[in-house]
Amino acid sequence: MVDPASSITVVRDIGSLRHRLKDWRLANRTIALVPTMGALHAGHMALVEHAKALADEVVVSIFVNPKQFGPDEDLAAYPRPASEDWELLAAADVELLYMPDAPVMYPEHFQTYVKVTKVSQGLCGDHRPGHFDGVATVVTKLLLQALPDYAVFGEKDYQQLVVIKRLVRDLDIPVDIVGLPTVRETDGLALSSRNAYLSEDERAIAPVLYKELSAVAFDIANGARSSERCSQAADALLKAGFDTVEYVDARDAATLAPLTSQGKPARVLAAVTLGKARLIDNVPVH
Ligand code: PAF
Repeated sequence: MVDPASSITVVRDIGSLRHRLKDWRLANRTIALVPTMGALHAGHMALVEHAKALADEVVVSIFVNPKQFGPDEDLAAYPRPASEDWELLAAADVELLYMPDAPVMYPEHFQTYVKVTKVSQGLCGDHRPGHFDGVATVVTKLLLQALPDYAVFGEKDYQQLVVIKRLVRDLDIPVDIVGLPTVRETDGLALSSRNAYLSEDERAIAPVLYKELSAVAFDIANGARSSERCSQAADALLKAGFDTVEYVDARDAATLAPLTSQGKPARVLAAVTLGKARLIDNVPVH
């Protein structure tokens, strides 16, 4: 199906997706997949641009995955601006958009899940039970449906990226997982589809998250004890006006294990709530 408003081909079922990708493969074209839940912003478009540089052909998927939302989360409210998304992708010269409906992804009697154990625990895993099982299941399915050479994700969802890298290794899925740095507003706020939930006052508070995480990363790099420094940051975030701080933590960048020694690549990660928005962010410790 071709949307009349754009030159992009939109496929909604696995057969049509595979048919299109087979033509590319037969022509020896390499393929990059950019999985998204839509409500595309400059962060997603940076993934698309990188995918275009990596591979001969790019397919973007938009699927708001019900299995990664908890019962009290924002599945119903999650923004779904389909025509704006199509326009952005067409303007970026993306030729193929995969937009399956839920019954395509999860037909009746669906009962198979992918669970990545260790790296899904702690951090967001503690606050969103089942979330990473939903992510791991849908990403595995998208990778098996498209069989791309590359799949490109943002580092903003850092734990998600580590989970995906782990499942690809553990399940021997032949794809290169590429993680790209977070795209930020000029004041440092990480771009996120959920920023749309912020009121004007909340939007003014939100960049403090990045500032505080950057200060923690700087101090840890300069010898501060990570647990003390992270709890100071949690207090500072509450004082700055965030409603709750789910966690501020410094972890091994590759395994997300608690930090035991200085010198290994590390990451400071946090999740907070502000009004209706749950915001996550993370920064490297240099
Ligand atoms: O990061 C996202 O947008 C989603 O979690 C993903 C990877 C597309 C899976 O639904």
